[in-house]
Amino acid sequence: MTRFLLPLIAAAFVASAANASDAAKAAPKGNPAKGQAIASTVCIACHGPDGNSPAPANPKIAGQHADYLLKQMKNFKGADGKQPERVNAIMNGMIAAYDEAQMRDLAAYFSMQQQKGEQARNRETIESGQKLYRAGDKSKGLAACAACHGPAGAGIPAQYPRIQGQYAEYIEAQLKAFRDGTRANDPAKMMRMIAIKMTDPEIKAVSDYIAGLR
Ligand code: HEC
Ligand code: HEC
Repeated sequence: MTRFLLPLIAAAFVASAANASDAAKAAPKGNPAKGQAIASTVCIACHGPDGNSPAPANPKIAGQHADYLLKQMKNFKGADGKQPERVNAIMNGMIAAYDEAQMRDLAAYFSMQQQKGEQARNRETIESGQKLYRAGDKSKGLAACAACHGPAGAGIPAQYPRIQGQYAEYIEAQLKAFRDGTRANDPAKMMRMIAIKMTDPEIKAVSDYIAGLR
């Protein structure tokens, strides 16, 4: 059996290496100055001039990894007349006007801005939030957030977003959206499989804890 499998595995590696180098070639870095021009006239209304959104309903995007920002913009836009992969009436409309080069410019600009963090607000749940974040819950097969988002929530480019210092309200809303499947753009269902195991109080506790991470 291994005689048949090995060449297949080797072929798969070659194929993914080829894809990776194609992707690198096709992915020029954006121009942050051009991104700023759009940000300061359009995105500013909800995300602030530098991506530190003033209202918790709008996520902070300052200091987020450029690759993640680009992926979300593409997911909001949808391609070839298809339903966008990430559905949100506001962002689906906001991003419609921009092509991929402009999205790269925007991603470059916002990723270079300094995020202003938040504070954890609920003393009673901080310990349980931290425990869940660092260790998950083995009794129900819930993975630790830290495993993918890093010990301080800084994320791991390109796939795992930064979540530290984000508004607790937004984190909570996203976890619930992953749980009920209204957000379904996570590769390999990584977040949906986690959120589905979480109760409302767990979501609240971990969201509050993450807001205070830095
Ligand atoms: C009218 C308000 C509004 C404007 C203007 C707006 N956004 Fe948003 N943005 C939102 C909201 C609300 C969300 C959260 C969507 C959700 O809950 O899924 C969001 C989410 C995002 C996200 C995903 C963040 C994450 O952490 O996943 C990105 C990226 C983004 N916006 C970029 C932009 C860019 C770039 C512009 C300017 C071209 C822009 N937005 C303009 C309201 C706005
Ligand atoms: C197996 C890896 C993995 C684990 C473990 C994990 N995440 Fe994630 N998470 C991801 C990936 C990948 C994404 C990006 C999804 C996408 O591309 O849209 C994400 C996205 C998110 C987002 C959305 C960020 C944004 O800006 O919209 C939040 C919030 C989040 N995770 C919170 C958590 C919490 C809380 C835990 C622990 C209970 C956790 N994650 C555990 C992989 C993981």
